[in-house]
Amino acid sequence: SQPVTAPDAGIVLAAPRGFCAGVDRAIDIVERALQKFGRPIYVRHEIVHNTHVVNDLKNRGAIFIEDLAEVPPGATLVFSAHGVSKAVQEEAAQRGFQVFDATCPLVTKVHVEVAKLAKEGYEFIMIGHKGHPEVEGTMGQLDSGIHLVEDVNDVAHVQPAQTDRLAVVTQTTLSVDDAAAITAAVKARFPNIREPKQQDICYATQNRQDAVKVLSQQADVVIVVGSPTSSNSNRLAELARRLGVPAHMVDNADELQAEWFAGATTVGVTAGASAPEVLVNDVVARIKAYGAVSVRTMDGVQETLKFPLPKGLKLDNQ
Ligand code: F3S
Repeated sequence: SQPVTAPDAGIVLAAPRGFCAGVDRAIDIVERALQKFGRPIYVRHEIVHNTHVVNDLKNRGAIFIEDLAEVPPGATLVFSAHGVSKAVQEEAAQRGFQVFDATCPLVTKVHVEVAKLAKEGYEFIMIGHKGHPEVEGTMGQLDSGIHLVEDVNDVAHVQPAQTDRLAVVTQTTLSVDDAAAITAAVKARFPNIREPKQQDICYATQNRQDAVKVLSQQADVVIVVGSPTSSNSNRLAELARRLGVPAHMVDNADELQAEWFAGATTVGVTAGASAPEVLVNDVVARIKAYGAVSVRTMDGVQETLKFPLPKGLKLDNQ
């Protein structure tokens, strides 16, 4: 059949893309809990925001719940990579579950900072997306005193009780550029506000956005592999579009539409931090069926970060 793409079209894979160290660890925790304690293992919220990962773990005996009332006494419970509020932690302890915390250590870092500064009397402006579980978890480290702003417009309306001790924190998976603009607005209104020593946006979010900027300079269309609930995946598609390149986010290869590739010479492909590489391989195979004849990976930073597992999940053969 006739190719949809231009003749000799090529695929360029972003680097880095896909799994980050926090996602790797979170999935590993559920897999090890299943091996060590048997099914079922309860997981509060999607362990990471990816349909394929969640369905795979469901098939192997994980039960995903939102409300701890759904978890039977004595069960083993895993908290998702996004983190949980103090109230959820306390409820789990009170109900006596065996808990393994898959909160990404880079989210925990933000929680620790919030708790520490709150003791010193600080109030917080949090930059993030309302309703995202990470935002609920971070805001839920305190009973009060964290004020959410979602955009520059919100900054004018936020009402802290005092302005002498204010600190800014952010969700880890924001648009780097949007967060910079919102932070600038926050600093313009509250010049003495305290910023984190190192930004809360994580290395994986930063690196994947940097890579998409480079990718977008050479691609006619960008495909982002990721699920609709994945914050960092959405930001990748949004970024490519802002740079003037049509971009589509797909959960899997079946969602690709031939017309997206009409006449394309270079197709860029990336994946959010929660999207497994097997899905990228499927997407690449499908784009080849549309006519792409070559695949190469762009140059990008090497990621070597690896987080240790929580205690109690070492398997007998290790
Ligand atoms: Fe952690 Fe960033 Fe991944 S916060 S889970 S390393 S996207």
